[in-house]
Amino acid sequence: MPEPSHTINLQKQAGDSGRLQYQSGFGNDFATEALPGALPVSQNSPQKVAYGLYAEQLSGTAFTAPRAHNRRSWLYRIRPGAMHHAFAPLDHPLLRSGPFNQVAASPNQLRWDPLPLLSSDQPTDFVDGLVTIAGNGDAAMQAGLGIHLYAANRSMDDRFFYDADGELLIVPQHGRLLAHTEMGMLDVSPGEILVIPRGVRFRMTLPDGEARGYVCENYGAQFELPELGPIGANGLANTRDFQAPVAAYEEREGDFQLVAKFGGQLWSAAIGHSPLDVVAWHGNYAPYKYDLSRFNTINTVSFDHPDPSIFTVLTSPSALAGTANVDFVIFPPRWMVAENTFRPPWFHRNVMSEYMGLVHGAYDAKAEGFAPGGGSLHNCMSGHGPDAVTFEKASHAELTPHRIDNTLAFMFESRYVIHPTRFALDTPLLQKDYLACWDGLKKNFNGWP
Ligand SMILES: [Fe+2]
Repeated sequence: MPEPSHTINLQKQAGDSGRLQYQSGFGNDFATEALPGALPVSQNSPQKVAYGLYAEQLSGTAFTAPRAHNRRSWLYRIRPGAMHHAFAPLDHPLLRSGPFNQVAASPNQLRWDPLPLLSSDQPTDFVDGLVTIAGNGDAAMQAGLGIHLYAANRSMDDRFFYDADGELLIVPQHGRLLAHTEMGMLDVSPGEILVIPRGVRFRMTLPDGEARGYVCENYGAQFELPELGPIGANGLANTRDFQAPVAAYEEREGDFQLVAKFGGQLWSAAIGHSPLDVVAWHGNYAPYKYDLSRFNTINTVSFDHPDPSIFTVLTSPSALAGTANVDFVIFPPRWMVAENTFRPPWFHRNVMSEYMGLVHGAYDAKAEGFAPGGGSLHNCMSGHGPDAVTFEKASHAELTPHRIDNTLAFMFESRYVIHPTRFALDTPLLQKDYLACWDGLKKNFNGWP
């Protein structure tokens, strides 16, 4: 176990751009304290905790989950998490949850333009700015996922949020986020991801004044690193590049709001203090960030393509081996060196369902129409692949080593059919002419007679 940090690290306020401290590792048994001696030694729940703190366990897996998957943290806090007023339902019509039954799932290939950034006369925080585009499964059954976009231009100062329905994998596309969580603070920029486990309370502030991005709300087993098999002990996302916060706390009283997503809807409760009052914690259930530029991208050095699973950053397994509840896959800058090979992603139909987004740059299977901040959905067994322009170009390209730069696309790939929401099908952001991108593919067949 690492030595606890003795740095006094008070939670900073919105707009503070001080450099944050992190602990490295994935699923490590971290130990951190914001006041010296706050963390009990050798015992989780002593009769009296230092500084008059309360001990509270946060269990992210069943008590009896196998050791390799067991996740829990012990929080030493100013007040227990139970202290708040009663929850009442909170309306949020554009935030949807599984089961997704507003509209029928569609075999059509779908693509959307980016969500517009908000104007200054629409003050909207991270929670209010969530819009659900699609999803599958059932939050109550802890299977499936929700796919949301967010656009926000207001920091959460007196408002706190947690999601009991799922773990949040946040992919910023525009603007930084500063997550003030129970375990400490994490700052993320576009090109990085942030994962906030189920139940962890946080507020999101916006150092750039506005932000936009994607959220995978994972109802299933929490994300883990994929097995590496014959790749060996190193490669893809390495454990040391994941960063968890050091303990930091707020000691604030006031008329605050605690918002929960529970049972597929939002709930709101008054709370008289900041719930980000954890002075010390230890355990392996904690939020984390990861810089996607640290991904050790592996690909062919001879001919042909490995399947895109070679780009898997994190996976949420299901009970069926090798068949994910959801995989988070990226298409980062990389060298293309395959000989005698059609190098862009091939034409494809898949039993898994694929939602794709783009953080910046261009995606190598599409010449145009897939913009940063936009998205596409290719459902179970729906054909997709390079558009006509890309096919022509790649069929005649000189196959010298070529580096794809300035690009970062990603995919949420799920074993379950992904249902769009009514918003996703009614919004003018839906591209009515997406299918036309394959219209120009010529009949090249030159066989007998
Ligand atoms: Fe595909």
